[in-house]
Amino acid sequence: MTLALASEENRAPALAGVRSHAHRLASIHLRDLLAAPDRSTQWTLDAGPLHADFSRQRIDLDALQSLETLAQASGFEAARTALFSGDIVNPTEGRPALHSALRGVGGDASIAADVTAQRARLTQLATRLRSGQLSGFSGAPLTALVCIGIGGSDLGPRLVCDALAAPSDFTVRFVANVDPDDLARELAGLDPHRTAIAVISKTFTTRETLANARAACAWLQAAGCPQPSLARHLIGVTAAPQAARAWGIAEEQLLEFREWVGGRYSLWSAVGIGIAAACGPTAFDALLAGAALIDRHFRDEPLSRNLPARMGLISVWNRAFMNLPSQAMIPYAERLRLLPAWMQQLVMESNGKSAALDGGLADLKTAPVIWGASGTNAQHSFFQQLHQGPDIVPVDFVLVRRSRSPAAYEGDDRQRILLANGLAQAAALALGQTAEPNDRHRDFPGNRPSTTIVLPELDATSLGALLACYEHATFTAATVLGINPFDQFGVELGKVLASRVERALSGESVENLDASTRALIERLR
Ligand code: F6P
Repeated sequence: MTLALASEENRAPALAGVRSHAHRLASIHLRDLLAAPDRSTQWTLDAGPLHADFSRQRIDLDALQSLETLAQASGFEAARTALFSGDIVNPTEGRPALHSALRGVGGDASIAADVTAQRARLTQLATRLRSGQLSGFSGAPLTALVCIGIGGSDLGPRLVCDALAAPSDFTVRFVANVDPDDLARELAGLDPHRTAIAVISKTFTTRETLANARAACAWLQAAGCPQPSLARHLIGVTAAPQAARAWGIAEEQLLEFREWVGGRYSLWSAVGIGIAAACGPTAFDALLAGAALIDRHFRDEPLSRNLPARMGLISVWNRAFMNLPSQAMIPYAERLRLLPAWMQQLVMESNGKSAALDGGLADLKTAPVIWGASGTNAQHSFFQQLHQGPDIVPVDFVLVRRSRSPAAYEGDDRQRILLANGLAQAAALALGQTAEPNDRHRDFPGNRPSTTIVLPELDATSLGALLACYEHATFTAATVLGINPFDQFGVELGKVLASRVERALSGESVENLDASTRALIERLR
């Protein structure tokens, strides 16, 4: 089966139903919704280690029912089955999207065998690296890994390592930006005799990644590494093995994944070499196991008890029906400070589209703008606007019950302060507070929606579950919106133009550049 747009006949009345509930709820304050008996228990869902509280969304049970009806009319059940069956759910590129198979859920026996074989190679390489069995050009063991990749070949592993790695772990650094300062900063302090470089690129054509990889090779060579020994330092991770070999990756240090893993869904594959190296293969397995808990939950639970599906429906509700153009992600955990950046690619590259599955225009506003930062820091920068600004911004608060760091002194109350702030912000945004008459400065209108997600602790299992939950929420939203979340044609035009501008910057005469670009090229040359 190939994913296709649901019939208008079913969808149109379902859409009208949701719209009428949105219209009705527009004039009801969250304070009143929250006052209903059972609100705080009726609006929570659990999945694996995750607990989510949707009670502070501007929605009631009738409206939720209408959203679920819309999901059904949009073909949610069939799309979900197609996803896990390995059907073509990415019709514009003619591919399945089987990232869940990397976690052992979905796909067929041959996919599972391939995943197992690739995982064994990853585990073996990471173990050899961590135990000092790989040596560089001068025979010294490799004791650090620099991961070079961008977008989906960077954001997920970077986030997971930032969340889980301890200072005593194997040294892993990440470089994404082609700005020479990025690589220079990350190489600083590393010994070229003892440093491995992972070149991570699904296509193995990405300009920035290959340019940085060349620069890293030059750094090794400047330290005395002869050309034929470069390959000892290089690990390649790709779905285009021929291109990686041609580039100079040795067979035994080549890790593959398949075309059916989308770039932004690839941290679970060998793209996660940095995770396996820094945190260890056992932690990597736990991450996958946490994600698999959510895969099974998402695959098996009905809409009414399905946590990722609920998250997806609520995001569509806020963006398309309540007309709220952005969404903030505020993890109250410093180790999750990179979650907003990972979410930006996940949601905005997946669903930031205007084309429907049939090639027409999508009939709903698709992805919100995702942004955010860790709490409580964010409270001291942009929360002013969240509370009193002209636009309402729904927030996802992510709270972690226990800190990974032990108390520093008796009565250390920092974790309590952190959690108290997260809870207080969600309450303040929802309830607001009416000031003395005629004092707008101190007036908090409230009625600002949020979801609170609670993790018991920040371990690999819970983190895997959290990330998989957002992946499936994004898929659910795409299904309801009638769009393909797995292509990204919107990034192409800029890439093509960049290569022409690059030629112009190097002095070549290039036709058909606009006057503004030409003037700026002159200034920058
Ligand atoms: O330009 C966008 C993109 O194609 C992303 O989808 C992808 O994650 C990133 O570039 C990196 O691509 P690659 O892994 O092929 O280098």
